[in-house]
Amino acid sequence: MSKQFDVIVIGGGPGGYIAAIRAAQLGFNTACIDEWKNDKGGPAPGGTCTNVGCIPSKALLQSSEHFEHAGKHFGEHGIQVQGLGLDLGKMIGRKDAVVKQNNDGILYLFKKNKVSFFHGRGSFVKAAEGAHEVRVSGQDETLVARHVIIATGSNARALPGTPFDEVNVLSNDGALRIGAVPKKLGLIGSGVIGLEMGSVWRRVGAEVTILEGLPTFLGAVDEQIAKEAHKAFTKQGLKIELGVKVGEVRNQGEQGVSIAYTDAKGQAQTLQVDKLIVSIGRVPNTVGLDAEAAGIQLDERGAIVVDDECRTNVPGIWAVGDVVRGPMLAHKAEEEGVAVAERIAGQHGHVNFNTIPWVIYTSPEIAWVGRTEQQLKADGVTYKAGTFPFLANGRARALGDTTGMVKFLADAATDEILGVHIVGPMASELISEAVVAMEFKASSEDIARICHAHPSLSEATKEAALAVDKRTLNF
Ligand code: FAD
Ligand code: NAI
Repeated sequence: MSKQFDVIVIGGGPGGYIAAIRAAQLGFNTACIDEWKNDKGGPAPGGTCTNVGCIPSKALLQSSEHFEHAGKHFGEHGIQVQGLGLDLGKMIGRKDAVVKQNNDGILYLFKKNKVSFFHGRGSFVKAAEGAHEVRVSGQDETLVARHVIIATGSNARALPGTPFDEVNVLSNDGALRIGAVPKKLGLIGSGVIGLEMGSVWRRVGAEVTILEGLPTFLGAVDEQIAKEAHKAFTKQGLKIELGVKVGEVRNQGEQGVSIAYTDAKGQAQTLQVDKLIVSIGRVPNTVGLDAEAAGIQLDERGAIVVDDECRTNVPGIWAVGDVVRGPMLAHKAEEEGVAVAERIAGQHGHVNFNTIPWVIYTSPEIAWVGRTEQQLKADGVTYKAGTFPFLANGRARALGDTTGMVKFLADAATDEILGVHIVGPMASELISEAVVAMEFKASSEDIARICHAHPSLSEATKEAALAVDKRTLNF
């Protein structure tokens, strides 16, 4: 026996659950299959992002920032704190509660939108034009639909020969539930996870060392912004060693982990830590999907091969999010999910890859959209740059957080905005204005002429746009 649907979505992360909701809104009889289990074995939809990614990391970043502020910055405001202490169990418990609220919210949204949810692993039985068949683990019936959207996400990449045990050698999963603050914490990879997780554990008292293979810090970020961020992180006490070559990693149980590496000068070094977080990127996940049964093509990285519109090589089978090419970001996965549902409905779903924002939720936050100055140079584009420091922004001074700047890059001839880069307070929120501007092909002059509320951090955005034409008013 099989159950008939119009659309089956495999994976209930941001790519999958959003695709399922949009498909249902468009009138399709939609099923979503997700295998994630909560600690009681029940369903926990939301994928990596909700369970061990975006949401829990931001919860811990928030809690640890409050702790740091109470200990180091409240005094500046005339607030005296005595007997400040850390209840790590409570902090982790709060994070878990935030995750559960989001899991429950997704189950509610499925009900509201009449998406049929199946808890289990989905695997292809066969692909046939008009009737793709998918088995759900633990269920007798198979599901059949004309369209299948694969949104099976990604997994943390391990160092070769050093498996995650989630006790000493931690992926993002273990990094979000360390039971006691480690005295010494090591991280390999100073990318997004390295910086966010390194910040959390440093703020609550760990001595943090990050070993990075590349000689440049945050190579994908605008150089001027990356330099400013590096300065701020170093001042906070994050030790970041660039240009290292990691050698043998020994998991010594109760004794912690020792990491042999060669430093940038070619000297042999050993780092001894209590816990090690490995954050060296993620790999697309098709485990258990039986993609071969459907004849779906994968590339050499294990990602599902799709065209610009998320079509696989098999008609009626689509793939979105971390399991396909492009940035591994929740909002990119969501946009692809919506676009695919709309394409199935014969509409013109659209994702603009040039205006996908990136945010690193450290303090200062780092956010950008569009091209960096080094990319514009490499592309031979003539451009004008304008920067404005938060030091000259009244709201930032009132907040007591004046690190960083906003930077605009605009085409020298047309003034069209080509990139906006921010390091500083609330960069994650400020970047949205730049995304809207770029989506509407605005010029820096457009932003410079828009009235921004005073006092607000967004005035730094306006001033950076004015700086493109060398006419800042407050600097
Ligand atoms: P996933 O979220 O990985 O979801 C895939 C789902 O499919 C999972 O629930 C999985 O169990 C399920 N699944 C897999 N195979 C099967 C199968 N065969 N049958 C049934 N179910 C299956 N991105 C941001 O934009 N902002 C952030 O702040 C951010 N923070 C992050 C922090 C960390 C620590 C990490 C690790 C990632 C973070 N990301 C962030 C990235 C973000 O989590 C991913 O880009 C996003 O989750 C990808 O969504 P997805 O739907 O493609 O896959
Ligand atoms: P990453 O790609 O951001 O960073 C990995 C870093 O590890 C790079 O700097 C790389 O040079 C380095 N590296 C790789 N191999 C190494 C080795 N053998 N030795 C030393 N250094 C090595 O990957 P990360 O931090 O694991 O995050 C994965 C992805 O998850 C991110 O790229 C992003 O897509 C997503 N994410 C997004 C967040 C956000 O949007 N705020 C937060 C966290 C993750």
